Amino acid sequence: MSSATTTPDTAWATGPLSPFGALVTARAPGLPFTAPPVDQVRTLVRREHLVVLRGFTPPADGSALEAYGRSWGEVLEWSFGTVFDVLAHEEPEDHAFDTSFMPMHWDGMYARFVPEFQVFHCLTAPAATEGGRTLFTDTTKLLADVGADTLARWRDVVLHYRNPKVSHYGGLVISPLVEPHPVTGAPTLRFLEPVPEGVEILNPPNVTVADHGPEEARALVDEVRSALYDPRYLYAHSWEPGDILITDNYTLLHTREPYRRGLPRHLQRVHVLGDPPHRSHLDG
Ligand SMILES: [Fe+2]
Repeated sequence: MSSATTTPDTAWATGPLSPFGALVTARAPGLPFTAPPVDQVRTLVRREHLVVLRGFTPPADGSALEAYGRSWGEVLEWSFGTVFDVLAHEEPEDHAFDTSFMPMHWDGMYARFVPEFQVFHCLTAPAATEGGRTLFTDTTKLLADVGADTLARWRDVVLHYRNPKVSHYGGLVISPLVEPHPVTGAPTLRFLEPVPEGVEILNPPNVTVADHGPEEARALVDEVRSALYDPRYLYAHSWEPGDILITDNYTLLHTREPYRRGLPRHLQRVHVLGDPPHRSHLDG
């Protein structure tokens, strides 16, 4: 369980999520989501890797979310701007805008700089039983348990990822599987999950494992995938409107459960860069 503790003497209470993360709940209505001081929330995110603010008055719009991101640090500028609408499109060109399978990944792998923090605001979401949860895996927690032999083997693995740029991301990324966290130095996993056999998505990534034959590569991918979906390290977030969720994107990998097209699901997200910004492995 998380080490977060309850602090009953404040306007909000902090408690653990399972198997990791912290939930900060407003004790009374009308408290803005900006009330918990950024330094305190940042410290909590760095320690717990994921923080949910619930029961606060949410940002009025994307501009207010962006302003909040700027109070954390430099906000990543994408081709679409700074605020990403996580929302299924009528005719998606990329799985990012679809409702079917999405591979585990880290945000900004195809950007010049990898953001340290993701800041989400939930506007609407399906009921908890209808899918669409966001799944986050704490790779530092996972790597602390895998054993010295596996860790040593994984440290030698390099993966190549390619995606044509049909929306806001794409290119070639050559990345070690295990990388030190840019702030703490703790080992983390960087992995874009190949699409499982028999599953079809729009604009699937091409993933190859350097210096591995096809059988070896398949065995490695299966091994990493089953570790990433191990419930001991995976937190599944059921969104509620008004939720603010902030992650340590250097530590976590994430994906989204499939859900039925047509169900309401709209999140907004900004990315906050580290200080200094952390260069990605984007080639070129
Ligand atoms: Fe993502």
